[in-house]
Parts: sequence; C-alpha cells; structure tokens
Amino acid sequence: MNDKIIVETRDLVKIYGDGAEVRALNGVNLHIARGEFVSVMGPSGSGKSTLLNMIGALDRPTSGTVLVNGQDLAKVRNLDAFRARTVGFVFQLHNLIPTLTARENVEVPMQGQPISRQARHCRAIELLEMVGLAERINHLPNMLSGGERQRVAIARALVNSPAIVLADEPTGDLDSQSGAEIIALMRRLNRELGTTFIIVTHDPAVARQTNRVLVMRDGRIVHEHTVGTPFEEDLAAFWRSGLGQALLAGDKTALSSLGPDAQTALRNLLEKVG
Ligand SMILES: Nc1ncnc2c1ncn2[C@@H]1O[C@H](COP(=O)(O)OP(=O)(O)O)[C@@H](O)[C@H]1O
Ligand SMILES: [Mg+2]
Repeated sequence: MNDKIIVETRDLVKIYGDGAEVRALNGVNLHIARGEFVSVMGPSGSGKSTLLNMIGALDRPTSGTVLVNGQDLAKVRNLDAFRARTVGFVFQLHNLIPTLTARENVEVPMQGQPISRQARHCRAIELLEMVGLAERINHLPNMLSGGERQRVAIARALVNSPAIVLADEPTGDLDSQSGAEIIALMRRLNRELGTTFIIVTHDPAVARQTNRVLVMRDGRIVHEHTVGTPFEEDLAAFWRSGLGQALLAGDKTALSSLGPDAQTALRNLLEKVG
C-alpha cells in the first residue's frame, strides 16, 4: 500500500440482521490520504456511521477489506490496542463521563498505558490548552457549554496522538456558531498536528470547510468532490442554495425554484451524483 494512503477500503459490505437484512454498506471503495480533512455527507440511513465504525474497527465488515495505516484490520489481533493507538473518536453527543472533570475525561484513553500519573495530567492539560480550555480544566461536563464539551471530546480523541480522528456529526447538537468554531478548531489541529480527519456531517457549511466531500447514498459513495477543482463553484452554489439536502433526499422538484444557470449547474451535478 502507498505510504501516503492512510485509509483504504475495498468492496466493503456490511449487512445487518439475519432475517430482514439491511445492506448498510454496499461496496465502498475509497482512499484517504494522510493528513486529509474529509467530510462524508448523505441522507440519514445511507451508511455514514457504519462506514466510520468499520474504519475505526468498532465493528467488523460482512465482506471486503479495510486497511488503516497499512494494516488490514481483519488481521489485527488486538483491536483495542489498535484503536487506542491509531484512531480517536468524536461523536454527536460528546459522551463525556459526567462525574469526571474535563482533565480526567481527557485522561481516560491513556488508562492502561505505561504513563505516570503526573505525565498523564500534563498531557491532558496540554491538550485542553490546545483546544482553548485552559480555564476549564477542573470543570465537570455539566458546567461546560455544548461547544466546550465537544472541545473536551476532541482533546480526549487526540490524547494518544492518533493518526486519524473519526467524527460522527460532531456539530449535530450545536448551534451554528459553536459548530463553526468546532470545525475551525478541527481544521487548525489538522494543519498543526497533521492528523487526518474524517467528518460525517449533515451540514453543507461544515462540508465546505473540508478538502474533499464524499457523498453517500444507499451504502455507496455516489459522488466525490475535491475542493479546488473547477467543479467547486457549482458545488458551492449547490450547498449555499439550501437545496442540497432536499436534492440529496431525492426531491428533484426543488430544482424548479432556481434560475436557469443554477438549474443547469445542478443538473450536471445530479447526473454525477446519479
Ligand atoms: N446495529 C444495527 N443493526 C441493524 N441495522 C442497523 C444497525 N446500524 C445501522 N443499521 C441500518 O443500516 C443503515 C445505515 O445506517 P447508518 O450507517 O447509521 O446510516 P447514517 O449514519 O448514514 O444515518 C440504516 O438502514 C440503519 O437502519
Ligand atoms: Mg449516522
């Protein structure tokens, strides 16, 4: 595998259930380069969370291959150790432990590692400073705002210096201002630390901040857009129009509310999306 590729999936399939089976992933092939800042969009139920769970080894695929950091996950013996070293997770709901302070929450992923208490404290504080919470180190989660809690979750995700952060709708529970701040923070950490970020989002404003947008539907990646290509302006207009979600949900009548140029641009886009 190419050293620049940090995540690769080959014909990834995930089927849930035995009787009425759900094909959550139906042949996903993707490559993500080291240091990329990528988003995954798509309607609810299109397989975004399932894809993140496969990449983060939270669950096993039905068939197909996931390679992370050069390792075939099917061949990794100790998945807990793999996860602790290689991936950090950020979820929509921060999942902080309510009885632990910000610092103690950030220390949780360091448990079981041969690090002294003192070194753990220092590392947690370093991370909390990095995410702008130097003044909140000893606060409990319920003393923090939604955005601050999500900053703690980001610090926790980064504490073991993972190569990848997987974020599943990290701004889904935040107002737009706090959400924008969280994405800006992730963007800065991506630049400063070189950590690869894969961010699932419903929010076009979030997707626009990323380098590449993967669009999923029915368990497949149906469109991929790299920011900075000539196609960008069309896509940006599409996102800005506020019709993105309606169109992704299959409501093509939404097109008729646009001017002719925008309609042409979006028709071209829809053809690519399929
Ligand atoms: N643990 C599960 N058991 C059964 N079906 C599931 C499970 N998790 C997800 N699914 C189904 O798989 C499909 C994809 O789900 P998911 O990956 O959560 O989509 P998304 O994150 O894009 O909303 C959906 O139809 C969902 O109902
Ligand atoms: Mg989901």
